[in-house]
Amino acid sequence: MGFCLVVEDDGVQRKMLAATLRTAGHTVVAAGGGREAMVAIAEHQPEVVLLDLGLPDADGLELIPNMLAEAPLARIVVITGEDSVRTAVDALRAGARHYLVKPWDREELLVVIEREARSVRLAQASALGQQGTVFWGGSAEMDRVRTILTKVARSPLTPLLVTGETGTGKEVMARELHRLAAPPGPFIPVNCAAVPGELLESELFGHERGAFTGAKERRRGLVELADEGTLFLDEVGDMQLPLQAKLLRFLQDHRFFRVGGEQEIEVRCRVVAATNRDLEQMMAAGEFRADLYYRLAVVTLSLPALRERPEDIVPMAYHMLREIASETGRELRQLSPAAEMTLAAHTWPGNIRELRNRLERALILGSESLIQPADLDLEVDAPHPPAGAVDEPDRVRRVLEEEGWVVARAARRLGVPRHWLRYRMAKWNLTRPSSPDRRRPVG
Ligand SMILES: Nc1ncnc2c1ncn2[C@@H]1O[C@H](COP(=O)(O)OP(=O)(O)OP(=O)(O)O)[C@@H](O)[C@H]1O
Ligand SMILES: [Mg+2]
Repeated sequence: MGFCLVVEDDGVQRKMLAATLRTAGHTVVAAGGGREAMVAIAEHQPEVVLLDLGLPDADGLELIPNMLAEAPLARIVVITGEDSVRTAVDALRAGARHYLVKPWDREELLVVIEREARSVRLAQASALGQQGTVFWGGSAEMDRVRTILTKVARSPLTPLLVTGETGTGKEVMARELHRLAAPPGPFIPVNCAAVPGELLESELFGHERGAFTGAKERRRGLVELADEGTLFLDEVGDMQLPLQAKLLRFLQDHRFFRVGGEQEIEVRCRVVAATNRDLEQMMAAGEFRADLYYRLAVVTLSLPALRERPEDIVPMAYHMLREIASETGRELRQLSPAAEMTLAAHTWPGNIRELRNRLERALILGSESLIQPADLDLEVDAPHPPAGAVDEPDRVRRVLEEEGWVVARAARRLGVPRHWLRYRMAKWNLTRPSSPDRRRPVG
């Protein structure tokens, strides 16, 4: 069941469309013209817009991009007269998803609207979108992260604070929590650093008509859109102090006023905040409210830097290569042993994002059948192994044996980083013969 906006100037048609959709269980708002439609879009953020192209006060074709700018997730279905199928095709080019020809058929209308509404919900649910699926890896740190997420997912209103360096997956984890919790409402991301301070309040909490110069219409804020869903406050450390107070009040009793509003509005959603700034330090400096911090940090998820879980780097690289290959339609290429080692030895200041970008570049630009270190374009911060020396399990085993299975010593002799050697040992199942768990596959 979706939230639909019907835009049709003919009153009889409008009522019929609205009634048909309502009987099928959709929520419907209606507008008689282009201007009214734009107001309704801003206020309601409908999932599907049913747009008659022959409006008296607006060019339907021009309306489409404006509507999508206001509600990027909305799907637009146009209705045209039989004689203007050409226009319908232009409408598709402008961003509409589908067209219906008058006189419309009830069954077709309902099928199309339901399909579009569902695809909007799916797009929100698989909010990871083009970024692919979450890769967990085998490190203890990520096990901990996963356990916390699973627990928090069970209590729908508990806030979560996600911290970690850039590119460690803070947003990915927020979306994963939303997916796990599967609340009825949407995932709404807000980047507090990207919106100028004075606009952030109305962006978040909405405003009434005339609340300030430029507030021509009433507008619902992102908090309202997140009702029964998840509000993701990215870069929460950038929020100014007065707005922090308003956010705290909202977190405490789920109520707020729109800017210039007199009526209190109640919204129930989970708030997930993320930051790569040190909030405790900001708190000490008086830049972040302590009471807000403690309210947000009921549960804190601190994501490890990639270099803190080196054993995950190469497996994650293969996972991503498969994804990138299928997304870009390129053939999957394997990493050469030297490339694996380069990846494992890099310190990854940009963390997982940087890894993904490097791999994408390598897959797209490289030409050999194996991805080589040069394709990755990394500053090599590891010593190069003697050619052919470290990609042979037998030789690695021999060195390990000679060094009494002391990884640090064997790694030094092989000229490779320790974590790379550990990764290789797991992959090739190289374990000290006397160790009790030698039969257990590792990695
Ligand atoms: N667990 C994961 N599995 C697969 N890919 C991931 C994972 N975590 C992060 N990524 C990849 O890394 C990219 C960056 O992740 P994300 O945007 O969540 O980082 P961030 O911590 O929010 O960074 P910033 O602080 O710069 O905003 C994602 O687009 C995704 O491609
Ligand atoms: Mg982020």
